[in-house]
Formats: sequence, C-alpha cells, structure tokens
Amino acid sequence: MGADRLLVLCLALAAAAAAAAAGQRPSAVSVGALFTYDSTIGRAAQLAIELAVDDVNADATVLAGTNLNLITQDTNCSGFLGTIEALELMEKNVVAVIGPQSSGIGHVISHVVNELHVPLLSFAATDPTLSASEYPYFLRSTINDYFQMHAVASIVDYFQWKEVTAIFVDDDYGRGGVSVLGDALAAKRARISYKAAIPPNSDTDVVSDVLFRANMMESRVFVVHVNPDTGMKLFSTANKLRMMASGYVWIVTDWLAAVLDSSKSSDRNDMNYIQGIIVLRQHTPDSVAKSKFISKWNNMARNRSIDSALNSYGFYAYDSVWTVAHAIDRFLDSGQQINFSVDPRLHDSNGSTLRLSTLKIFDGGEQLLQQLLLTNITGLTGQVRFDSDRNLVQPAYDILNVGGSGSRLIGYWSNYSGLSVASPEILYQKPPNRSTSAQRLYSVVWPGDITTKPRGWVFPNNGKPLRVGVPNKPSFKELVSGGKGPDNASGYSIDIFNAAIKLLPYPVPCQFIAIGDGINNPNYDDIINRISTNSLDAAVGDFAIVRNRTKIAEFTQPYIEAGLVIVAPARRANSSAWAFLKPFTVEMWCVTGALFLFVGVVVWILEHRTNEEFRGSPRQQVLTIFWFSFSTMFFAHQHRKCSWAFCTDHMVVRRADHQFKLHR
Ligand SMILES: *[C@@H]1O[C@H](CO)[C@@H](O)[C@H](O)[C@H]1NC(C)=O
Ligand SMILES: *[C@@H]1O[C@H](CO)[C@@H](O)[C@H](O)[C@H]1NC(C)=O
Ligand SMILES: *[C@@H]1O[C@H](CO)[C@@H](O)[C@H](O)[C@H]1NC(C)=O
Ligand SMILES: *[C@@H]1O[C@H](CO)[C@@H](O)[C@H](O)[C@H]1NC(C)=O
Repeated sequence: MGADRLLVLCLALAAAAAAAAAGQRPSAVSVGALFTYDSTIGRAAQLAIELAVDDVNADATVLAGTNLNLITQDTNCSGFLGTIEALELMEKNVVAVIGPQSSGIGHVISHVVNELHVPLLSFAATDPTLSASEYPYFLRSTINDYFQMHAVASIVDYFQWKEVTAIFVDDDYGRGGVSVLGDALAAKRARISYKAAIPPNSDTDVVSDVLFRANMMESRVFVVHVNPDTGMKLFSTANKLRMMASGYVWIVTDWLAAVLDSSKSSDRNDMNYIQGIIVLRQHTPDSVAKSKFISKWNNMARNRSIDSALNSYGFYAYDSVWTVAHAIDRFLDSGQQINFSVDPRLHDSNGSTLRLSTLKIFDGGEQLLQQLLLTNITGLTGQVRFDSDRNLVQPAYDILNVGGSGSRLIGYWSNYSGLSVASPEILYQKPPNRSTSAQRLYSVVWPGDITTKPRGWVFPNNGKPLRVGVPNKPSFKELVSGGKGPDNASGYSIDIFNAAIKLLPYPVPCQFIAIGDGINNPNYDDIINRISTNSLDAAVGDFAIVRNRTKIAEFTQPYIEAGLVIVAPARRANSSAWAFLKPFTVEMWCVTGALFLFVGVVVWILEHRTNEEFRGSPRQQVLTIFWFSFSTMFFAHQHRKCSWAFCTDHMVVRRADHQFKLHR
C-alpha cells in the first residue's frame, strides 16, 4: 500500500516535471500600465492599450492559450504618486510595465525596475537623458527627443536663423530636450541665446513673467518644449503680450500636435492665436491597420462618451502592448518560466508597515528584456525595431504649419534624409541624401499672416551696443568723418561698415563715438590703443594696417585700394613728325647720311661707265646719287622699326607706323 502511494506520488512529480520541461504555458500573464488617466496623452493611450490587449487576446498566433492580464495605475501627473503606484504594480507580480508616461517618473522607477528586473516599455517618456547605460531596464517605444531636437535644429538651419530662445518646462523632460537642442544647434552653427525655464505647474503670472523676459531678448525664434496639459495657456499669455504677431517665429515640439489632434474642432477657440506656428508630430506611415484602429478607437470613445480624440501617442501605446506580447510569447516559447523570488536586500524593518518584502525580483527579467530588444514587428507606427542605442529605427517627424482651423503639412524630417517634401517611406527606397541642396519644405505662412520669412531677431532694447570709434578730423571727410552727435558718423567707411553689419544674420547694435576735435587730426595709434584697453569695441576709418597695430587689434580685409604711389607732373609726349629722328643724335644722323652719300658716290663711280641710269647732265647724275642714298636709308629705317617695337612703348610704335606710311 505504502509503495503504491509512493509510486503515484512519483508519477505525479514526473508529470509536473515533464510539463515544465515542455514549457507548459501559464494561463495568464500580468502586465502593468502606468500613465495619467486624465491627460492628453493618457486619454488616447488608455483606450489604445485596452484595445491592444483585447486584440492580443483575440489573436491566436501570439500568446495562444495565455491571457494577457492588464493592471493599470494612474500616476496623476505626480512624481510621488507615480512612484508609489509603480511600487504597487510591482507587488502584483507583473512581468513588464507599459509606461510610465512622464520622463520624471521614468527616472525614479527605472531605479526600482533595475533592482526588480521588470522591463519598462514607455510610449511617452521622450527625455533623451533616460539612457540605456544608466537604466538597462528602460526601453522607449516612441521616438527619443534626441531626434526631435535635431529636427528642430534642421528647421532653424533651413531658414538660416542663428539664435533661438528655448521655452521649456523646468523638469527632466524639458531640460533633457533643451540640452540636446543646444548640441544640435551648435552642429549647425546656431545656438540657444536665451533659456526661458517655466517651473512645472506654474500659474499664468509666472508664465507671463517668463515670456516677458524672453521677449526682451533679441531672438524672435522661440522653440517651445512644454507639457501638453499646461502648454496651451502659454500661447494665450504670449498672445496678450503681442508675441503671436508678425516678426515672431514659433517652433513647437510634438506636445502641441497631440493637443491639436486630441481636441474636438468645436472647442478650438484658442486656434486664433496660434496661427502661423510650426509644429512637429511623430510621423507614422498611413496603413489599413492604422485607419481600422482609428475608427475602432473612435467607436469606443463614443460608447464611453469620452470627449477627446486620438493622437499619435495612442499609436505608440497600442504598439507597445503588441511588442510586449510578442516578447512574452518568445520568452515562453524558449521554455522559460515566470517565477518571482524574494529580494534579500528588501526586508521589513521592525515596526514598518511598508511591506517592502512583497516586492519580488522577476527571475526571467533579463531574458524577457533580451526578447524585447529583439522585437521586429510592423505596427501602426511603422517598423518596431530597436537599434544598438535602444532607439526605434527610422525616426521621422511630420512638420505642420498651423493655419485656419487646422494645420497644413509642409514637409517631413527623417533621420535618414533630413527635411524633405517627400514622405520618409519614399526616401527609404533611395540612398540617403542629407546634402543642403536636397533639404526642402513647402512655403510657410508665418504669424501675422505673412509669407516672407521673418528675420528672426530684433535689436534688443536692453542690449549693450558696440562702441565704435570714428576719427573726427579736418581732412578726407568723404572717407570718414565723425560728427557732433554720437551717431553722426558719415563717409564711405561708415557706409561699408553699416552694410556689413546689415548682412549679419544676428543683430549688432552699435554706437559711433567721434574721436578728435575736427580741427586737428586725432592720433590714430591712440584710437587703436583704446580698442586694446577696452574703452572701444571697434573703430572704423582710414586706418593703415601696420605691423605694431596688428599686434593689438584685428583688422578687416582692406576694402579700398590706396597703395603708395609717386605723383609727378605729366610731360607732353613729343608728337612731332620728326619723332623718328629721336633714337639717334644729330651727329649720328650726319655720319649715317655721309656714309649713304659715300656709298652713292662709290656706286656712281663703279656704275656710270656701264649703266645708262648714271649718265646724263651732271645735275641729273647728282640727283641719281641722292636718290640712291635716300632709298638705302629708307630700307635701313624699316629694319629699325621692328626693334623699336620691342624697346619703346605703344605710342612710339604707332608713330613709327605713321612714319612708315609717310615714306611710302
Ligand atoms: C490628481 O491630482 C489632482 C491635483 O494634483 C487632484 O485634484 C486629483 O484629485 C487627483 N486625482 C486622483 C484620481 O488622484
Ligand atoms: C540617425 O542618423 C545618424 C547619422 O546619419 C546615424 O548614425 C544613426 O544610426 C541614425 N539613427 C537611427 C535611429 O536611424
Ligand atoms: C541630393 O539631392 C540633390 C538635390 O535634389 C541632388 O542635386 C544631388 O545629386 C543628390 N545627391 C545624391 C547623392 O543623391
Ligand atoms: C607703432 O610704431 C610707431 C612708430 O614706431 C609708434 O609711433 C607708435 O606709437 C606705435 N604704435 C603702437 C600702437 O604701438
């Protein structure tokens, strides 16, 4: 009898072991979700997550036989509550958490999940400083703000602005984004000239104060990176300060796209004062699945009388659930079991009622995380795959221009090709082209209903102007002259200076300071010295660039040619018909003439007995000798003409030609 019982027990044990070895799947797996129910992102995400869980449980190809059990907690936009809620989730033995929504809570509970080995998959925490190296169990299923800030920098660069004012909420999300924005702008030779931090949950007075100070600065390009639930009041305040008017540029990160997409068009009375701003929105390719999901979501929202519409964070939330489901499926397929063990480091101290020992370590957390990183599915947001930095591959944004009661798509930004008017899906088929000439956006209607690109800056009313010294002297006033008043400088040098200042893409207010009494020439070395002693910032005038001055001041390139020259009175060139006689002295000509005559006589002596031409009356014979001498001289002269051309100037050559014709 005893032996029988033993046998039965052994068989039962064997069966259990066999089931474990074959990887018998649990009937249910719990997954947590952490977000703020009553928020722009949360409202879209809540329904999306529920729909996704239903879809996963209805799908026979993923987690067949295992029910995905969702446990949601409301973080209520609070770091403290969020952390407590997260701990409560961990108590319920979840294998993964979808969320958190906020980057701040992400930082805190990442420490918790690092210890408990429960992967976090956040669809909305975009802070770039939530890095994989610090938080190995944090994974982001939406686009990192790193890319969004590079998109903003590309837009700033495209419109050739050099300075922006960053307006951001002073929390992890805001600071993390703006710090990347600074780096991204620096890579494009631009910068954040002023950072306007708005404390979280500030009231209108504080916002107004921050905006007022930002408006005092010279930049008119504002990049706004705040939270969707408090962001809109920033624009109504800006509108009161007349900052939504022409001349201003507003580039707003994806939070505003979420707000605009979520609000029903009927309650968009705030659209009036955000006309002309540029908004980014995560780019998700159009697909049948996406439109099906949108109509499903809308039906469900109508049934539950939810007064809000879907935004792109909903797509990321939906895909996150599928990502987790696929990972758990592969985790179970590989024969792993879902077990939790007690953390020896967490024990309840005497009298504590926190019951920390109920927080257990998920034994398979490491393996599940690996399965999540291997995700490669196509979801509503396109391809869901993580690169080596744990960012989603192919990050891209839509760029919208708000106008009328909606917004107009003016182009796309993709990490692959930068700004383009063609959708990223088309560009992925081609080789990447990030060249400047390939960057393109459709035209923008800016605030104030203008179509010309705003300059992006104004002369600040509080800025310290450059002190520019101008010599005030009695002579050469056309070149430069410093007048009586501080801005009364004039002259060619001042015009060049003003034109150069105007070409700069940023404002340089300057004030001219006349140096000298206008009667005596001021000492130019003194003026240059005043630059080195910092009582002047610059000097404009006819300064010679000499060696010891270049040691103490920087000079521009010379803008007027005034090389050293010697001026002498001009002598009239000898233009008489006898110029051809110039090369030889009178004596030389006499000797030459005598020689010709001598030749003529010799030829006459030799020829006159045999040659008819050399006979006749003595007068005729003398004429013949002269004629003969003359023609010999003519040929000699013709020869000389060529050598003149080489050694004398053009005018003399011309003169010789003239002479030559005369001879003929
Ligand atoms: C969420 O927080 C707000 C104020 O921060 C509070 O009024 C509200 O009752 C809280 N809601 C929940 C469900 O805790
Ligand atoms: C983004 O672009 C950079 C440079 O082209 C590249 O090195 C990086 O891998 C890209 N990242 C993603 C996520 O595509
Ligand atoms: C990139 O685009 C520009 C403008 O469209 C074109 O001129 C250039 O050839 C392209 N470069 C590559 C490598 O495709
Ligand atoms: C430059 O050299 C000249 C002549 O040696 C001298 O008079 C002048 O003071 C020097 N200027 C400066 C700025 O040192």
